[in-house]
Amino acid sequence: MTAIWSVDTEQFYKNAVNVVKGNSIMAVVKNNAYHYGLEFAVQQFLRAGINTFSTTSLREAIRVRALAPNATIFLMNAVYEFDKVREHNIHMTLPSLSFYYEHLEDLRDIHVHLEFENLLHRSGFKSLLEIKEVLEHHAQNNNVHKMKIAGLWTHFGYADEFDVPEYSIERQAWLDVVETLLSEGYQFEMIHAQNSASYYRENDVLPHHTHARIGIALYGSRPYSTINEDEIRQSLTVKGNIIQIREVNAGDFYGYSFAFEAQNDQTRLAVVDVGYGDGILKSRAKHEALINGKRYPIRALMMSHMFVEVDEQVQAQDEVTLYSNDIRVDEYTFKGVGANSEQLSAMNHDSLIKEYR
Ligand SMILES: Cc1ncc(COP(=O)(O)O)c(C=O)c1O
Repeated sequence: MTAIWSVDTEQFYKNAVNVVKGNSIMAVVKNNAYHYGLEFAVQQFLRAGINTFSTTSLREAIRVRALAPNATIFLMNAVYEFDKVREHNIHMTLPSLSFYYEHLEDLRDIHVHLEFENLLHRSGFKSLLEIKEVLEHHAQNNNVHKMKIAGLWTHFGYADEFDVPEYSIERQAWLDVVETLLSEGYQFEMIHAQNSASYYRENDVLPHHTHARIGIALYGSRPYSTINEDEIRQSLTVKGNIIQIREVNAGDFYGYSFAFEAQNDQTRLAVVDVGYGDGILKSRAKHEALINGKRYPIRALMMSHMFVEVDEQVQAQDEVTLYSNDIRVDEYTFKGVGANSEQLSAMNHDSLIKEYR
């Protein structure tokens, strides 16, 4: 018996179709497609009608190109391997004025998307003036191999915050940039800004935008808690097995370094074959596991094991579910365990059996 990480392929695909809702979606497949597996995710997204992908790593972008020869692939991080970007026809962000002037020559024939910095302050042009400086400079460049301006984009840093005004501030600042440029006659093949939270908040793709740039919703986790669970469904299951049941007495300690003190005699502790070495976060182990359809408290987490306090209905060899659509990653995000992507990324694909069903 070994703990299993498994994905229900039909459920993954159906969720993607549901998220797309007939809109133009750019699927974010960074970090091994949020750890669902790059090849698997790209194939299912293609099946769901998505033909635009983005990632932060050139290596991943090249892997996506091999899987999707006709797709538009957008690299959200600037890189310096310009020949490879050209060779694989990858679109790339243009992250600043200085990058533009320094790499004017290197960027020849590369499709770039001008990035607006906005409130996240991670990367991008600081103002509309800076963007216009590039647009005007570019218009005067007569080199037939000059870079191709294909897109305009930003990233919202506050779309999943509801109690502060920052989302409406960054949204308005961005729409002002877009509307001003369009009203002055500039045209862009692609305009994109929205992550999952913004896409669901707006209930649509923003005006003038060609794509929403979606990650976590495509992977079956809700970006905020007031979205109905049926709208975004989880295809991932992570489960282990009960190796044995120990009956323990009040006052005894279990797990490393006094991790759990039994409160009652005849406390039943299930020893389960999954632990933090498999990717279960310590903060997740403060909550429950699902056994035979009922939730039981996890009492201690070790590298390859955990203790779950159970009742008489639970026996050795029963399955113990840590994540499924009935005990979802996003539920624990909202309980403060860690971001959806943090819980997903922690999974150890070398120690867990990995299955696509
Ligand atoms: C630039 C950028 N766009 C889009 C996304 C997708 O965000 P989400 O997973 O919340 O949909 C991310 C994720 O971190 C990102 O960094």
